[in-house]
Amino acid sequence: MISEARKKEMLQHAEEVFFRVEELQRQGLVCDDGDFVPSVHYPPITEYPDASPEEYLRDYEYPADGYMDIYVHIPFCIQHCVFCHYPGKAGECNDEKEKYISYLRREMDLYLEHFGIERLKPRSILLGGGTPTYLPPALFEEFLTMLDERIDYSACKQYNIDHDPNSILGDDGLKRLQMMKDHGITRLTIGIQSFDESVLKMMNRPHGRDMAIESIKRAVDFGFDVNIEFIFGHPGETLENWMEVMDLATQMPVGEIQIYRLKVQAYGDKQGVINKRHRGYETGDIPDFKSTMMMKQLAIDILADNGYNENLRRVYSKEKRMFSHYAYNQCCNLYDQVGFGLTGFSSYHDRFDINSMYFDEYYRMIDEGRLPITRGYIRSEEEQIRQAIVLPLKNRSVIKSDFLKRTGHEFDDILKKKTQILKEYGLIEDNGKAVKLTEIGGFLADEVCEEYNSNKYKPFPENRYADGPLNPYRDNEI
Ligand SMILES: C[S@@+](CC[C@H](N)C(=O)[O-])C[C@H]1O[C@@H](n2cnc3c(N)ncnc32)[C@H](O)[C@@H]1O
Ligand code: SF4
Repeated sequence: MISEARKKEMLQHAEEVFFRVEELQRQGLVCDDGDFVPSVHYPPITEYPDASPEEYLRDYEYPADGYMDIYVHIPFCIQHCVFCHYPGKAGECNDEKEKYISYLRREMDLYLEHFGIERLKPRSILLGGGTPTYLPPALFEEFLTMLDERIDYSACKQYNIDHDPNSILGDDGLKRLQMMKDHGITRLTIGIQSFDESVLKMMNRPHGRDMAIESIKRAVDFGFDVNIEFIFGHPGETLENWMEVMDLATQMPVGEIQIYRLKVQAYGDKQGVINKRHRGYETGDIPDFKSTMMMKQLAIDILADNGYNENLRRVYSKEKRMFSHYAYNQCCNLYDQVGFGLTGFSSYHDRFDINSMYFDEYYRMIDEGRLPITRGYIRSEEEQIRQAIVLPLKNRSVIKSDFLKRTGHEFDDILKKKTQILKEYGLIEDNGKAVKLTEIGGFLADEVCEEYNSNKYKPFPENRYADGPLNPYRDNEI
């Protein structure tokens, strides 16, 4: 329990941080209404043009060392959460699930055949969705076995899976946990989202607080590395109930806690229900910008008081070893990764592609003997340089020697004025070998890193930022 005195202190601190954010907004760093776009790929995922798999992959060079991190997408959930923009099917639909797994198998085989390899050799794996564990136990076992037959795990350091609390409860939940253990899965990410019953209802989550707690305990008892995810800035959340949620989160026996700021407008292709219900924040039941920023700072302070520090962006852990290798390999090492399944994306050293988001199209392309890639982007030299700044800077740091190896350029020769201004405003720091975000820079990581996006890929138009030195459109020529 947080003492009243500590609460008061934290609220005051959160307010001071918000005043700093406002000051930076006046200089052009943050857009007019405080909205944000998470910088998760570069260029942003919405910018990729149509691509045919044949044309797109023709001159792609498979990594010489044979390593390829793997993502597999399972687009099924018990029900649609109000905040979620991910396309997928809700409800039992077991026939569709069986069909989907059989096509996934075929997609993986097409991929192996295309590159003339027998097995994929990942450094890490992420099974995501959707809710992969929402497959019925027998089909879940078939799915994991299908992966075992196509993957060489000898170099795999981490095998992750995302899920909700429900699918690891009850007898079926026990069976799935045992299967995950037997198939070598090491890290479980449980979407808890909130412990507050009324917020969970507003989110349309199929579980309450007690089920969430029970699922965490079960996963921990099975010996997995467990991390739990929450959303802040959601309708129904207040500074008070959010502090209680974070306080309870830190009492869970988990090594990692992740917090996401609610994104109302989708940044992918599908718009979730949240925007239809809460168009443009006007209804007033979505916490305003100030409260949302304060919630973030309150979480940071509560987590720090309990020994959880930011390890990878948005991810707070007690030990340094606890973080997603998949995310680290993708965003900091910029290693090649392949994604399978509906909307599965592949992030390669010089390009990015994404599979169809429509079940029919996904099935049809595989029936035609084609990989189901429908959009892709091969980066120009300039976009390679920008990507090598945006993603590592956001998540950990830009190591200058790595930057030179990747791009053939010295970091200190690129976008000098931009970097200088960000340093002057205390948003980034440079120790000669690496450049990283400062504390306030990390607090506004998306905004600071998007300063380095090319002007055609800024999250918002120029006139939505104040005309100050931090307006992201300024000083941005390479
Ligand atoms: C693709 S979801 C999968 C999680 C899992 N199916 C579950 O039930 O929690 C991964 C995470 O993204 C976050 N997320 C989803 N939609 C979001 C949104 N609109 N804004 C912010 N975070 C979001 C949630 O915290 C969620 O746990
Ligand atoms: S948050 Fe998870 S369970 Fe909810 S709709 Fe999104 S993917 Fe499905």
